[in-house]
Amino acid sequence: MASQHTAVSFHQMKDGTIEDYALLARYESQYAAELPDRILARLEQLKFGISGYQVSRFEHSLQSATRAMRDGADVDWVVAALLHDIGDDLAPSNHDALAASVLAPFVREECAWVVRHHGIFQFAYYGDKVGSDPEARQKFAGHPYYDATIVFCERWDQTSFNPAYDSEPLSAFEPMVREVFLRNPWDERHLRPGVHAPLVSA
Ligand SMILES: [Fe+2]
Ligand SMILES: [Fe+2]
Repeated sequence: MASQHTAVSFHQMKDGTIEDYALLARYESQYAAELPDRILARLEQLKFGISGYQVSRFEHSLQSATRAMRDGADVDWVVAALLHDIGDDLAPSNHDALAASVLAPFVREECAWVVRHHGIFQFAYYGDKVGSDPEARQKFAGHPYYDATIVFCERWDQTSFNPAYDSEPLSAFEPMVREVFLRNPWDERHLRPGVHAPLVSA
């Protein structure tokens, strides 16, 4: 009986039975339900990230999300701002793509696209000081999410390195993280392809 299994019977996937894969499906749904906890724990790890700035990557993330919330942005934007640098430690050369991959099944397509490309758009603020093209973002000119990425970087990312800013604590964002990462992955009702929501209301 599958219910008596605690682990599958196979050593190679091709030998697995229907009961084995039913067992794994039950473990996977339980594991997926714990995703918000893993996301929150991972954010806490950003306290120990890259040095040299006046704020930790954790504080930078809280500050970005706080600015998004205070701009009246919706939950997808706030969570995207909170997670946009979550890939810093494991993917220093493409941290934006890692963060976007974490977000993509659960947020509006627009928000995942903006996070995926924020690294290139950020060059507008310092590319000229490090030998990179400040106008690298121009290759995306005309893209439906181009303008949103500029606003994201201008208002929430490049500005969030201020140690005096009164960021909200991570607990303020916990309900939003739980809401977003308990959604049905890849459900078009929250992916909403092509839909734009304002970053700044009012
Ligand atoms: Fe970044
Ligand atoms: Fe950032």
